[in-house]
Amino acid sequence: AELYEPERMNSAGFDLHDVPTMQKIDAARETYRTTQWHAAPLIAGDAPEFSPLPVRNPFRPGDDLGTVSHASPEAVEIAISSAAPWAATPEERGDILAKAADLYEENFGAFFALLAREAGKTPMDQVAELREAVDFLRYYGANAPSKPAAGVFSCISPWNFPLAIFSGQISAALAAGNAVIAKPADQTPLIAHEAVKLLHKAGVPRSALQLVPGSGSKVGAAITSDPRVNGVCFTGSTATAQRIRKAMAENMTPGTPLIAETGGLNAMIVDSTALPEQAVTAIVESAFQSAGQRCSALRCLYLQEDIAAPVIEMLKGAVKELQLGDPWSYATDSGPVIDAKAQEDIASHIAQADQEGRVMFELPTPQTGTFVAPTMIKVDSIKDLEREIFGPVLHVATFKADELDQVIDDINNTGYGLTFGLQTRIDDRVQHVSERIKAGNIYVNRNQIGAIVGSQPFGGEGLSGTGPKAGGPHYLSRFGKVDAVQTEE
Ligand code: SER
Repeated sequence: AELYEPERMNSAGFDLHDVPTMQKIDAARETYRTTQWHAAPLIAGDAPEFSPLPVRNPFRPGDDLGTVSHASPEAVEIAISSAAPWAATPEERGDILAKAADLYEENFGAFFALLAREAGKTPMDQVAELREAVDFLRYYGANAPSKPAAGVFSCISPWNFPLAIFSGQISAALAAGNAVIAKPADQTPLIAHEAVKLLHKAGVPRSALQLVPGSGSKVGAAITSDPRVNGVCFTGSTATAQRIRKAMAENMTPGTPLIAETGGLNAMIVDSTALPEQAVTAIVESAFQSAGQRCSALRCLYLQEDIAAPVIEMLKGAVKELQLGDPWSYATDSGPVIDAKAQEDIASHIAQADQEGRVMFELPTPQTGTFVAPTMIKVDSIKDLEREIFGPVLHVATFKADELDQVIDDINNTGYGLTFGLQTRIDDRVQHVSERIKAGNIYVNRNQIGAIVGSQPFGGEGLSGTGPKAGGPHYLSRFGKVDAVQTEE
Protein backbone atom coordinates (compact mmCIF):
# COMPACT_ATOMS: atom_id res chain seq x y z
CA ALA A 1 0.00 0.00 0.00
CA GLU A 2 1.13 3.56 -0.67
CA LEU A 3 2.14 5.26 2.55
CA TYR A 4 0.66 8.68 2.65
CA GLU A 5 -0.24 10.47 5.82
CA PRO A 6 -1.46 13.99 5.15
CA GLU A 7 -2.01 14.69 8.84
CA ARG A 8 1.69 14.21 9.69
CA MET A 9 3.79 17.36 9.42
CA ASN A 10 7.56 17.50 9.27
CA SER A 11 9.24 19.39 12.11
CA ALA A 12 9.26 23.19 11.87
CA GLY A 13 12.89 23.30 12.97
CA PHE A 14 14.47 26.60 13.98
CA ASP A 15 14.58 29.82 11.96
CA LEU A 16 18.21 30.94 12.02
CA HIS A 17 17.29 34.37 10.66
CA ASP A 18 15.27 35.12 13.78
CA VAL A 19 17.31 36.72 16.56
CA PRO A 20 15.16 35.49 19.50
CA THR A 21 15.42 31.94 18.10
CA MET A 22 19.18 32.24 17.88
CA GLN A 23 19.30 33.51 21.47
CA LYS A 24 17.15 30.58 22.59
CA ILE A 25 19.54 28.15 20.89
CA ASP A 26 22.55 29.90 22.42
CA ALA A 27 21.12 29.70 25.92
CA ALA A 28 20.28 26.01 25.53
CA ARG A 29 23.66 25.08 24.01
CA GLU A 30 25.68 27.08 26.52
CA THR A 31 24.86 24.61 29.33
CA TYR A 32 26.72 21.95 27.33
CA ARG A 33 29.76 23.94 26.19
CA THR A 34 32.06 22.14 28.60
CA THR A 35 30.03 19.02 29.42
CA GLN A 36 31.99 15.78 29.44
CA TRP A 37 29.97 12.88 28.10
CA HIS A 38 30.57 9.16 28.32
CA ALA A 39 29.27 6.57 25.86
CA ALA A 40 29.19 2.87 26.65
CA PRO A 41 27.30 -0.18 25.49
CA LEU A 42 23.59 0.01 26.31
CA ILE A 43 22.66 -3.66 26.32
CA ALA A 44 20.07 -5.89 27.97
CA GLY A 45 22.53 -7.35 30.48
CA ASP A 46 25.84 -6.68 32.18
CA ALA A 47 29.29 -7.02 30.68
CA PRO A 48 32.60 -5.68 31.96
CA GLU A 49 33.35 -2.26 30.44
CA PHE A 50 36.44 -1.79 28.31
CA SER A 51 38.66 1.08 29.41
CA PRO A 52 37.41 4.37 28.00
CA LEU A 53 38.97 6.03 24.97
CA PRO A 54 38.86 9.79 24.36
CA VAL A 55 36.41 11.20 21.81
CA ARG A 56 37.84 14.01 19.65
CA ASN A 57 36.51 17.44 18.78
CA PRO A 58 37.57 18.04 15.15
CA PHE A 59 37.71 21.81 15.68
CA ARG A 60 39.30 22.08 19.12
CA PRO A 61 41.88 19.36 19.70
CA GLY A 62 42.15 20.15 23.44
CA ASP A 63 38.40 19.88 24.10
CA ASP A 64 37.81 17.17 26.66
CA LEU A 65 34.30 16.38 25.45
CA GLY A 66 34.08 12.82 26.60
CA THR A 67 35.02 9.18 26.38
CA VAL A 68 33.69 5.99 24.90
CA SER A 69 33.92 2.41 26.13
CA HIS A 70 33.73 0.06 23.19
CA ALA A 71 31.58 -3.04 23.37
CA SER A 72 33.61 -6.11 24.32
CA PRO A 73 32.98 -9.47 22.58
CA GLU A 74 30.99 -10.44 25.72
CA ALA A 75 28.82 -7.32 25.40
CA VAL A 76 28.16 -8.05 21.72
CA GLU A 77 27.22 -11.63 22.60
CA ILE A 78 24.76 -10.41 25.27
CA ALA A 79 23.28 -7.94 22.78
CA ILE A 80 22.70 -10.61 20.14
CA SER A 81 21.49 -13.35 22.46
CA SER A 82 19.09 -11.10 24.39
CA ALA A 83 17.71 -9.23 21.38
CA ALA A 84 13.93 -9.65 21.30
CA PRO A 85 11.72 -8.23 18.55
CA TRP A 86 9.54 -5.40 19.85
CA ALA A 87 6.34 -6.91 21.21
CA ALA A 88 4.04 -3.93 20.77
CA THR A 89 1.25 -3.11 18.33
CA PRO A 90 2.09 -0.90 15.33
CA GLU A 91 0.12 1.94 17.01
CA GLU A 92 2.09 1.57 20.26
CA ARG A 93 5.36 1.55 18.35
CA GLY A 94 4.30 4.68 16.47
CA ASP A 95 3.32 6.45 19.69
CA ILE A 96 6.60 5.61 21.40
CA LEU A 97 8.68 6.73 18.39
CA ALA A 98 6.67 9.97 18.29
CA LYS A 99 7.34 10.44 22.00
CA ALA A 100 11.05 9.90 21.37
CA ALA A 101 10.87 12.60 18.67
CA ASP A 102 9.38 14.99 21.26
CA LEU A 103 12.18 14.13 23.70
CA TYR A 104 14.80 14.75 20.98
CA GLU A 105 13.27 18.19 20.36
CA GLU A 106 13.20 19.01 24.07
CA ASN A 107 16.89 18.11 24.26
CA PHE A 108 17.93 20.31 21.34
CA GLY A 109 20.54 22.16 23.41
CA ALA A 110 22.50 18.99 24.20
CA PHE A 111 22.19 17.66 20.64
CA PHE A 112 23.28 20.96 19.03
CA ALA A 113 26.28 21.19 21.38
CA LEU A 114 27.24 17.58 20.67
CA LEU A 115 26.80 18.03 16.92
CA ALA A 116 29.19 21.00 17.06
CA ARG A 117 31.73 19.47 19.43
CA GLU A 118 31.76 15.84 18.33
CA ALA A 119 30.97 16.20 14.61
CA GLY A 120 32.04 19.77 13.74
CA LYS A 121 28.54 20.71 12.54
CA THR A 122 27.60 24.37 12.01
CA PRO A 123 24.32 25.79 13.40
CA MET A 124 22.58 25.37 10.04
CA ASP A 125 23.60 21.73 9.94
CA GLN A 126 22.73 21.22 13.62
CA VAL A 127 19.18 22.40 12.97
CA ALA A 128 18.84 20.35 9.76
CA GLU A 129 20.15 17.24 11.46
CA LEU A 130 17.74 17.37 14.39
CA ARG A 131 14.85 18.09 12.03
CA GLU A 132 15.67 15.11 9.84
CA ALA A 133 16.07 12.82 12.86
CA VAL A 134 12.67 13.68 14.35
CA ASP A 135 11.03 13.56 10.92
CA PHE A 136 12.31 9.99 10.47
CA LEU A 137 11.05 8.96 13.93
CA ARG A 138 7.58 10.36 13.29
CA TYR A 139 7.36 9.27 9.65
CA TYR A 140 8.32 5.64 10.20
CA GLY A 141 6.36 5.56 13.46
CA ALA A 142 3.22 6.84 11.74
CA ASN A 143 3.60 4.15 9.09
CA ALA A 144 4.48 1.23 11.38
CA PRO A 145 3.41 -1.89 9.49
CA SER A 146 1.39 -4.73 10.97
CA LYS A 147 3.10 -7.57 9.10
CA PRO A 148 5.74 -9.65 10.94
CA ALA A 149 9.19 -8.18 11.57
CA ALA A 150 12.38 -9.70 10.17
CA GLY A 151 13.60 -10.36 13.71
CA VAL A 152 16.94 -8.85 14.71
CA PHE A 153 18.40 -6.00 12.65
CA SER A 154 21.97 -4.68 12.85
CA CYS A 155 22.19 -0.97 12.05
CA ILE A 156 25.59 0.52 11.16
CA SER A 157 25.57 4.28 10.77
CA PRO A 158 28.01 6.97 9.57
CA TRP A 159 29.59 9.96 11.31
CA ASN A 160 28.41 12.50 8.72
CA PHE A 161 24.79 12.35 9.96
CA PRO A 162 25.43 11.00 13.46
CA LEU A 163 21.91 11.80 14.67
CA ALA A 164 19.73 11.81 11.52
CA ILE A 165 20.91 8.66 9.77
CA PHE A 166 21.55 6.89 13.08
CA SER A 167 17.96 7.60 14.14
CA GLY A 168 16.54 6.95 10.67
CA GLN A 169 17.91 3.43 10.46
CA ILE A 170 16.90 2.55 14.01
CA SER A 171 13.41 4.01 13.81
CA ALA A 172 12.66 2.19 10.55
CA ALA A 173 13.79 -1.15 11.98
CA LEU A 174 11.89 -0.52 15.22
CA ALA A 175 8.73 0.73 13.50
CA ALA A 176 8.67 -2.60 11.65
CA GLY A 177 8.86 -4.38 15.02
CA ASN A 178 12.46 -5.61 14.95
CA ALA A 179 15.02 -5.82 17.70
CA VAL A 180 17.86 -3.44 16.81
CA ILE A 181 21.55 -3.70 17.56
CA ALA A 182 23.06 -0.35 16.63
CA LYS A 183 26.71 0.41 16.05
CA PRO A 184 27.38 4.12 15.66
CA ALA A 185 30.37 5.45 13.75
CA ASP A 186 33.67 5.33 15.61
CA GLN A 187 33.97 9.12 15.58
CA THR A 188 30.49 9.91 16.95
CA PRO A 189 29.45 7.54 19.76
CA LEU A 190 28.35 10.27 22.20
CA ILE A 191 25.47 11.59 20.07
CA ALA A 192 24.31 8.02 19.47
CA HIS A 193 24.40 7.25 23.18
CA GLU A 194 22.28 10.31 24.00
CA ALA A 195 19.79 9.33 21.30
CA VAL A 196 19.41 5.75 22.53
CA LYS A 197 18.91 6.93 26.11
CA LEU A 198 15.98 9.07 24.92
CA LEU A 199 14.51 6.20 22.87
CA HIS A 200 14.63 3.99 25.97
CA LYS A 201 13.10 6.79 28.06
CA ALA A 202 10.28 7.09 25.53
CA GLY A 203 9.46 3.42 26.08
CA VAL A 204 11.48 1.32 23.60
CA PRO A 205 12.45 -1.79 25.60
CA ARG A 206 16.14 -2.46 26.12
CA SER A 207 15.85 -5.89 24.53
CA ALA A 208 14.50 -4.18 21.39
CA LEU A 209 17.19 -1.51 21.15
CA GLN A 210 20.81 -2.01 22.15
CA LEU A 211 23.84 0.14 21.44
CA VAL A 212 27.25 -1.39 20.84
CA PRO A 213 29.90 1.29 20.22
CA GLY A 214 33.13 0.10 18.64
CA SER A 215 35.15 -0.21 15.50
CA GLY A 216 33.83 -1.52 12.22
CA SER A 217 36.46 -4.23 12.07
CA LYS A 218 35.53 -5.67 15.47
CA VAL A 219 32.00 -4.77 16.57
CA GLY A 220 30.67 -4.00 13.07
CA ALA A 221 32.06 -7.24 11.69
CA ALA A 222 30.63 -9.24 14.62
CA ILE A 223 27.07 -7.99 14.21
CA THR A 224 27.03 -8.32 10.41
CA SER A 225 28.23 -11.90 10.27
CA ASP A 226 26.19 -13.54 13.00
CA PRO A 227 23.59 -16.02 11.77
CA ARG A 228 21.20 -14.95 14.55
CA VAL A 229 20.89 -11.53 12.86
CA ASN A 230 18.08 -11.34 10.29
CA GLY A 231 18.91 -8.12 8.46
CA VAL A 232 21.54 -5.39 8.13
CA CYS A 233 21.06 -1.70 7.48
CA PHE A 234 24.26 0.12 6.57
CA THR A 235 25.19 3.64 5.46
CA GLY A 236 28.80 4.35 4.55
CA SER A 237 31.32 3.62 1.84
CA THR A 238 30.70 1.35 -1.13
CA ALA A 239 33.80 -0.68 -0.24
CA THR A 240 32.54 -1.37 3.30
CA ALA A 241 29.10 -2.33 1.96
CA GLN A 242 30.78 -4.83 -0.34
CA ARG A 243 32.73 -6.31 2.59
CA ILE A 244 29.55 -6.59 4.65
CA ARG A 245 27.74 -8.29 1.76
CA LYS A 246 30.55 -10.84 1.50
CA ALA A 247 30.57 -11.59 5.22
CA MET A 248 26.79 -11.92 5.21
CA ALA A 249 26.93 -14.28 2.24
CA GLU A 250 29.45 -16.48 4.00
CA ASN A 251 27.84 -16.58 7.43
CA MET A 252 24.16 -15.78 7.33
CA THR A 253 21.00 -17.39 6.03
CA PRO A 254 20.72 -16.88 2.27
CA GLY A 255 18.33 -14.03 1.56
CA THR A 256 19.17 -12.02 4.69
CA PRO A 257 18.52 -8.46 3.53
CA LEU A 258 21.23 -5.79 3.32
CA ILE A 259 19.89 -2.27 2.97
CA ALA A 260 22.89 -0.16 2.01
CA GLU A 261 23.21 3.55 1.26
CA THR A 262 26.69 4.19 -0.03
CA GLY A 263 28.75 6.73 -1.94
CA GLY A 264 28.38 8.79 -5.06
CA LEU A 265 30.25 10.63 -7.78
CA ASN A 266 27.49 13.18 -8.05
CA ALA A 267 27.38 15.54 -11.02
CA MET A 268 25.59 18.73 -11.98
CA ILE A 269 25.11 19.95 -15.54
CA VAL A 270 24.73 23.69 -16.10
CA ASP A 271 23.78 24.61 -19.64
CA SER A 272 24.08 27.99 -21.32
CA THR A 273 20.46 28.92 -20.58
CA ALA A 274 20.85 28.53 -16.80
CA LEU A 275 20.50 31.53 -14.51
CA PRO A 276 24.09 32.10 -13.36
CA GLU A 277 23.24 33.46 -9.89
CA GLN A 278 20.90 30.56 -9.20
CA ALA A 279 23.46 28.06 -10.47
CA VAL A 280 26.27 29.52 -8.39
CA THR A 281 24.22 29.43 -5.20
CA ALA A 282 23.20 25.83 -5.88
CA ILE A 283 26.77 24.77 -6.71
CA VAL A 284 28.28 26.34 -3.59
CA GLU A 285 25.65 24.79 -1.31
CA SER A 286 25.86 21.39 -2.98
CA ALA A 287 29.64 21.17 -2.99
CA PHE A 288 30.67 22.95 0.18
CA GLN A 289 27.88 22.88 2.76
CA SER A 290 28.74 20.49 5.61
CA ALA A 291 32.35 20.74 4.34
CA GLY A 292 31.29 18.54 1.43
CA GLN A 293 30.79 15.61 3.80
CA ARG A 294 27.45 14.46 2.44
CA CYS A 295 26.98 11.45 0.24
CA SER A 296 24.67 13.66 -1.82
CA ALA A 297 27.31 16.40 -2.31
CA LEU A 298 28.24 17.68 -5.75
CA ARG A 299 31.62 16.29 -6.84
CA CYS A 300 31.79 17.08 -10.56
CA LEU A 301 30.35 20.17 -12.19
CA TYR A 302 29.83 20.34 -15.96
CA LEU A 303 29.56 23.88 -17.34
CA GLN A 304 28.57 24.49 -20.94
CA GLU A 305 31.60 26.26 -22.36
CA ASP A 306 29.73 29.36 -23.58
CA ILE A 307 29.03 30.41 -19.99
CA ALA A 308 31.93 28.68 -18.21
CA ALA A 309 34.27 31.66 -17.80
CA PRO A 310 31.82 34.07 -16.12
CA VAL A 311 30.28 31.32 -13.96
CA ILE A 312 33.72 30.21 -12.76
CA GLU A 313 34.58 33.82 -11.87
CA MET A 314 31.34 34.16 -9.90
CA LEU A 315 31.97 30.82 -8.22
CA LYS A 316 35.46 31.84 -7.13
CA GLY A 317 34.03 35.05 -5.68
CA ALA A 318 31.33 33.15 -3.77
CA VAL A 319 33.69 30.46 -2.46
CA LYS A 320 36.17 33.06 -1.21
CA GLU A 321 33.39 34.53 0.94
CA LEU A 322 32.80 31.26 2.81
CA GLN A 323 33.76 31.58 6.46
CA LEU A 324 35.68 28.62 7.82
CA GLY A 325 35.87 28.39 11.57
CA ASP A 326 34.31 27.42 14.88
CA PRO A 327 31.26 25.26 14.18
CA TRP A 328 29.61 26.66 17.32
CA SER A 329 29.41 30.15 15.75
CA TYR A 330 26.57 31.48 13.61
CA ALA A 331 29.16 33.28 11.44
CA THR A 332 30.66 29.97 10.30
CA ASP A 333 29.66 28.56 6.92
CA SER A 334 31.90 25.53 7.01
CA GLY A 335 33.44 23.60 9.86
CA PRO A 336 36.33 21.14 9.86
CA VAL A 337 36.33 17.72 8.25
CA ILE A 338 35.76 14.88 10.67
CA ASP A 339 39.31 13.87 11.61
CA ALA A 340 43.00 13.97 10.71
CA LYS A 341 42.74 10.86 8.54
CA ALA A 342 40.01 12.45 6.42
CA GLN A 343 41.98 15.69 6.25
CA GLU A 344 45.10 13.88 5.03
CA ASP A 345 43.18 11.90 2.46
CA ILE A 346 41.52 14.97 0.95
CA ALA A 347 44.72 17.02 1.17
CA SER A 348 46.69 14.35 -0.71
CA HIS A 349 44.10 14.40 -3.52
CA ILE A 350 44.41 18.19 -3.73
CA ALA A 351 48.25 18.01 -3.62
CA GLN A 352 48.24 15.57 -6.53
CA ALA A 353 45.98 17.89 -8.56
CA ASP A 354 48.21 20.80 -7.62
CA GLN A 355 51.28 19.01 -9.00
CA GLU A 356 49.40 18.57 -12.25
CA GLY A 357 48.53 22.30 -12.29
CA ARG A 358 44.78 21.65 -12.02
CA VAL A 359 43.91 23.50 -8.80
CA MET A 360 41.90 26.53 -9.88
CA PHE A 361 42.62 28.62 -6.76
CA GLU A 362 43.67 28.14 -3.18
CA LEU A 363 42.29 29.62 0.01
CA PRO A 364 44.00 29.82 3.41
CA THR A 365 43.20 26.99 5.82
CA PRO A 366 42.65 27.66 9.55
CA GLN A 367 45.57 26.40 11.60
CA THR A 368 43.76 24.59 14.39
CA GLY A 369 41.21 21.91 13.69
CA THR A 370 41.11 19.43 10.82
CA PHE A 371 40.17 21.91 8.10
CA VAL A 372 40.37 21.59 4.36
CA ALA A 373 39.82 24.85 2.48
CA PRO A 374 37.11 24.70 -0.21
CA THR A 375 38.96 23.79 -3.41
CA MET A 376 38.10 23.71 -7.11
CA ILE A 377 39.99 21.35 -9.41
CA LYS A 378 39.86 21.43 -13.21
CA VAL A 379 39.16 18.10 -14.91
CA ASP A 380 38.43 17.09 -18.50
CA SER A 381 35.58 14.82 -17.52
CA ILE A 382 34.10 12.87 -14.61
CA LYS A 383 36.19 9.95 -15.90
CA ASP A 384 39.19 11.66 -14.26
CA LEU A 385 37.67 11.08 -10.80
CA GLU A 386 38.90 7.72 -9.67
CA ARG A 387 36.97 7.69 -6.40
CA GLU A 388 34.69 9.71 -4.17
CA ILE A 389 36.62 12.44 -2.33
CA PHE A 390 34.55 12.99 0.79
CA GLY A 391 35.19 16.66 1.47
CA PRO A 392 34.98 20.23 0.15
CA VAL A 393 36.49 19.58 -3.29
CA LEU A 394 34.64 20.48 -6.47
CA HIS A 395 35.87 19.16 -9.81
CA VAL A 396 34.96 21.34 -12.77
CA ALA A 397 34.67 20.29 -16.42
CA THR A 398 33.29 22.07 -19.48
CA PHE A 399 31.32 20.70 -22.42
CA LYS A 400 30.20 21.86 -25.84
CA ALA A 401 26.50 22.02 -26.78
CA ASP A 402 26.71 18.90 -28.94
CA GLU A 403 28.45 16.89 -26.21
CA LEU A 404 25.51 16.73 -23.79
CA ASP A 405 24.67 13.08 -24.45
CA GLN A 406 28.33 12.10 -24.12
CA VAL A 407 28.45 13.87 -20.75
CA ILE A 408 25.35 11.97 -19.62
CA ASP A 409 26.97 8.67 -20.69
CA ASP A 410 30.17 9.52 -18.85
CA ILE A 411 28.25 10.31 -15.67
CA ASN A 412 26.27 7.07 -15.94
CA ASN A 413 29.39 5.06 -16.68
CA THR A 414 30.91 5.85 -13.28
CA GLY A 415 28.59 3.14 -12.00
CA TYR A 416 27.36 5.37 -9.17
CA GLY A 417 23.91 6.89 -9.19
CA LEU A 418 23.02 8.90 -6.11
CA THR A 419 22.22 12.57 -6.74
CA PHE A 420 22.28 14.65 -9.91
CA GLY A 421 21.67 18.35 -10.51
CA LEU A 422 20.55 20.14 -13.65
CA GLN A 423 20.43 23.88 -14.26
CA THR A 424 18.59 24.86 -17.43
CA ARG A 425 15.66 26.94 -18.60
CA ILE A 426 14.73 24.56 -21.44
CA ASP A 427 11.81 22.33 -20.43
CA ASP A 428 12.55 19.68 -23.08
CA ARG A 429 16.08 19.40 -21.77
CA VAL A 430 14.84 18.69 -18.25
CA GLN A 431 12.91 15.78 -19.67
CA HIS A 432 15.69 14.61 -21.99
CA VAL A 433 18.35 14.60 -19.28
CA SER A 434 16.22 13.22 -16.45
CA GLU A 435 15.08 10.31 -18.58
CA ARG A 436 18.67 9.33 -19.32
CA ILE A 437 20.56 10.05 -16.10
CA LYS A 438 20.84 7.12 -13.74
CA ALA A 439 20.51 8.68 -10.30
CA GLY A 440 18.27 8.10 -7.31
CA ASN A 441 17.62 11.79 -6.69
CA ILE A 442 17.51 14.34 -9.52
CA TYR A 443 17.26 18.02 -8.61
CA VAL A 444 16.42 20.68 -11.21
CA ASN A 445 17.30 24.36 -10.80
CA ARG A 446 18.17 24.03 -7.10
CA ASN A 447 20.85 22.49 -4.91
CA GLN A 448 21.19 18.70 -4.76
CA ILE A 449 21.51 18.10 -1.02
CA GLY A 450 19.16 17.85 1.94
CA ALA A 451 16.42 15.44 0.90
CA ILE A 452 13.25 15.90 2.96
CA VAL A 453 11.74 12.92 4.80
CA GLY A 454 8.37 11.90 3.39
CA SER A 455 8.57 14.11 0.32
CA GLN A 456 11.96 13.34 -1.25
CA PRO A 457 12.75 9.67 -0.63
CA PHE A 458 16.55 9.41 -0.69
CA GLY A 459 18.80 6.72 -2.10
CA GLY A 460 20.75 5.69 -5.14
CA GLU A 461 21.34 2.92 -7.58
CA GLY A 462 24.35 0.95 -8.83
CA LEU A 463 27.39 1.48 -6.62
CA SER A 464 25.41 4.05 -4.59
CA GLY A 465 23.15 1.62 -2.80
CA THR A 466 20.64 -1.16 -2.74
CA GLY A 467 17.47 0.84 -2.14
CA PRO A 468 14.74 1.12 -1.09
CA LYS A 469 14.93 4.85 -0.55
CA ALA A 470 15.04 6.19 3.01
CA GLY A 471 12.14 8.41 4.04
CA GLY A 472 9.95 6.94 1.30
CA PRO A 473 6.96 4.63 1.06
CA HIS A 474 8.85 1.42 0.23
CA TYR A 475 11.57 1.56 2.88
CA LEU A 476 9.78 -0.20 5.73
CA SER A 477 8.82 -3.26 3.68
CA ARG A 478 12.50 -4.31 3.58
CA PHE A 479 12.52 -4.53 7.38
CA GLY A 480 9.75 -7.11 7.40
CA LYS A 481 9.96 -10.88 7.43
CA VAL A 482 11.27 -11.97 4.04
CA ASP A 483 8.45 -14.48 3.43
CA ALA A 484 5.85 -11.87 4.21
CA VAL A 485 7.38 -9.44 1.73
CA GLN A 486 7.61 -12.07 -0.99
CA THR A 487 4.02 -13.20 -0.50
CA GLU A 488 2.80 -9.65 -0.89
CA GLU A 489 4.82 -9.04 -4.03
N1 SER B 1 20.10 12.73 3.03
C1 SER B 1 21.29 13.51 2.84
C2 SER B 1 21.10 14.56 1.82
O1 SER B 1 20.12 14.51 1.10
C3 SER B 1 22.40 12.55 2.47
O2 SER B 1 23.64 12.90 2.54
O3 SER B 1 21.91 15.44 1.71
